[in-house]
Amino acid sequence: MRKKIIAGNWKMNKNLEEGMALASEVVNMVKDEYQGSAEVVLIPPFTHISAVSKIISDASNVFSGAQNCSNHASGAYTGEISTEMLKSAGASYIIIGHSERRQYFGEHNDWLAKKVDAVLGSGLNPIYCCGETLEERESNVHFGVLETQIKEGLFHLNESQIAQVVIAYEPVWAIGTGKTASTAQAQEVHAFLRNLISNQFGSNIANNITIQYGGSVKADNAKELFSAPDIDGALVGGAALQSRSFVDIIKAMA
Ligand code: 13P
Repeated sequence: MRKKIIAGNWKMNKNLEEGMALASEVVNMVKDEYQGSAEVVLIPPFTHISAVSKIISDASNVFSGAQNCSNHASGAYTGEISTEMLKSAGASYIIIGHSERRQYFGEHNDWLAKKVDAVLGSGLNPIYCCGETLEERESNVHFGVLETQIKEGLFHLNESQIAQVVIAYEPVWAIGTGKTASTAQAQEVHAFLRNLISNQFGSNIANNITIQYGGSVKADNAKELFSAPDIDGALVGGAALQSRSFVDIIKAMA
């Protein structure tokens, strides 16, 4: 059975003290209230990963992650952070190619493919993001856009590497807008993505790869989204900044 993963991407929010408080609350609430099988991942800013990783260390189903990384292993790259640094801070997952990185920081698929390699090279799991803009959806080119993002970012991998990858479908028009994709829209894309993976890597790998949905996931729409056969969890932004709303989303996953 494929892994279900609910991840909270804190983006550039919370100072260290606030982040530690949020992580402690989530861990305690998950311990007390959640009996399901999903993995929970907390993805704070870089500066908090070490502290958050210590806070979650005794919860077997809670992990930490990073929002980005360098594609280089080490050296004179001022301001960059390597996958080995993130691993040593306790991170298990690294988000690659979030639409905000693509949009505001010019990250392209060829560069993201190298970041995926760096993450895998350190034995960590990339959460590779894809998603179309509103304009692309309205002009009906979204399947082509998604296909290019997946092919250029992931198709160079071998079978054992792709098995370590989590895919997150995050339609840009649904991020932070309160406008969630309908369950039918999300399911349609998730099935399309799984089919792409199947054609390239075979049905066994495709059936086992986790595909998360992201974009205005809230406690009140999570259950319906999670009922779709190809939606294996969520990458949550705004609603992950409060323990109650985040844990309610986790509890929507059996
Ligand atoms: P929101 O949940 O705030 O729409 O953000 C989604 C997201 O970008 C998670 O990576």
